[in-house]
This record gives sequence, structure tokens and C-alpha cells, in this order.
Amino acid sequence: MPGNLDRLSRMYSEETWRVYAFLDQSLDPRSMDMLYDVAGEYLRPGSVILDAGCRDAQHLIRLAEAHDVVGVGVDPVEVHIERARAAVVAAGLADRIEVFLGVMQELPYPDEHFDFVWCRDVIEGVDELEAGLHEVARVLKPTGRMLAYTVFATDLLEPKEEAMLNRLLGSVADNLDEGNVEAAFESAGMAVERKDLIGTEWREYAEERTHPAARALLRLSRLRRQREAVIRTHGQDIYDHVQANLHWETYILLGKLSSVLYVLTPRRG
Ligand SMILES: C[S@@+](CC[C@H](N)C(=O)[O-])C[C@H]1O[C@@H](n2cnc3c(N)ncnc32)[C@H](O)[C@@H]1O
Repeated sequence: MPGNLDRLSRMYSEETWRVYAFLDQSLDPRSMDMLYDVAGEYLRPGSVILDAGCRDAQHLIRLAEAHDVVGVGVDPVEVHIERARAAVVAAGLADRIEVFLGVMQELPYPDEHFDFVWCRDVIEGVDELEAGLHEVARVLKPTGRMLAYTVFATDLLEPKEEAMLNRLLGSVADNLDEGNVEAAFESAGMAVERKDLIGTEWREYAEERTHPAARALLRLSRLRRQREAVIRTHGQDIYDHVQANLHWETYILLGKLSSVLYVLTPRRG
């Protein structure tokens, strides 16, 4: 058995530094923009699209501008819808984009109405996911596609960390489980046509450029150092939410959360 000194000289040998040097090379990660490229493969001028969980409609606007499509956005949060409406008007797209307050579980549209559904970063927080997916399958044309980007918990996420995300960021425990979500696709009648593991790639892209996760960590340390003042001014609930949210990017970079892109088609018959 090697003694501790032998182990130390192996650990701090040239071999180790060669690995660090190797790790300093970019793996040319893909960026978030790949989602637009994938969507573009399915969109034609005049396509009718739904953004399920549109928030401020920034993605819907970008898709409408790039592909000359007609769009509908739905989101259950009033302030998101107000911002989305203002953004649509500011973009001069009020004749092509409509947004409404609601949930993907209840879409006031006839069967087979949409050519394409964009659902980015929403599945994590949808109560009754299966009902939501059923409804999406109902309103999609048989030739239609749903692009779903979501994040799953990996084995590296500790139970206490997952509980924090669920309690304070509104994620639904079952929806952070890849097997559960794929089973929900299946029972909602949605077939997986394409599955692309993104993992840490978008985060690596941002790290290598302008948006390091350290920015969130710096905010986190400043938040904790001013805990009492922040709670007094903004409330315990806001403090807790912000604290949890500032972990998200780092958890992705650490591989505790891993993102996946699906393209789904409604199964008929
Ligand atoms: C993390 S945000 C992502 C927003 C946007 N899709 C994006 O990628 O920027 C999740 C959004 O899903 C919305 N949401 C939550 N439950 C929903 C539901 N049942 N139906 C539709 N949207 C929902 C939230 O209000 C929020 O705007």
C-alpha cells in the first residue's frame, strides 16, 4: 500500500496539471439559440403556434419575427401577461400575436388548431402535467410538433436541495424526474420524435462568455450578509425565494440539474 507521501506526490504530479490544462479547452458548447434553430425546422410562414407558459412573450415575439408565424401565448401569472401584451405592442406584432391569462391544462381552442407548440422551461412547474400535455395533444394538428425544453434532477441533487427548489421555486417534484415526465408524455398520447441531452452545455456557453454563474453566487453571498435588512425591507418569503433562485445556475453547472430538449408529436388512433 502506498504511503501518504506517495499518494500526495502522485496527486500533485505533472499528470494532474495536464488534466487541468486539458479542462481549460472549450468543448464548443451549444447555446440556448439552438432552440430557435430546432423550432425553425418545423415553422413555415403562416404557421399557427402556441407558446405554453409564455411569460413576457420574448420567445414568441422572436419566433414571429423570424418565421412570419401567427402566435398565441398563455401564462397563469397576471403580471407576465401584462408585460407580454406591452412587449407584443412594442414589437408591432399585435395583429399576429395574442396572449391570454390561463393554463396549458385548459386551452380555449378547437381540436387540431395549432401547427407548433413551444414550451420552454415550463414543465418543471406544471401541476397536473398529464392533463396539460393531453390538452396540448388535443389542440395540435396530427402533423404538428411540440418543442419541450425542461430540466431534471440528477443523482447529484441532494434531497434537501431538491426540497428547497420545490418549496421556493414552485417546481413540482414529479416533474423533475425524467422517467415520470416521459411516462406523462406517453399517457398523454405524445410520442418522442427527438431527444437531445443538453446537460450543462448552455451554461458552459454562458460561462465562457458574458454570464458566469459566479454572478449569482456573489449575489447570494451579499444576500446572506444582509439577511436581516433584506427580510425587514422585502419580507422573509422574498428572501427565501431569491436565495433558492440564486442556486439554479450553479446547480446546472454542477450537474445537479440537467436539461433536455424533446420534440414530440401527437399519436393518433
Ligand atoms: C421558468 S418560466 C419560463 C418562461 C418562458 N417559457 C421562458 O422560457 O422564458 C415558467 C413559466 O411557466 C408558467 N406556467 C406555470 N404553470 C403553467 C401552466 N400550468 N400553464 C402555462 N404556463 C405555466 C409560469 O407562469 C412561468 O411564466
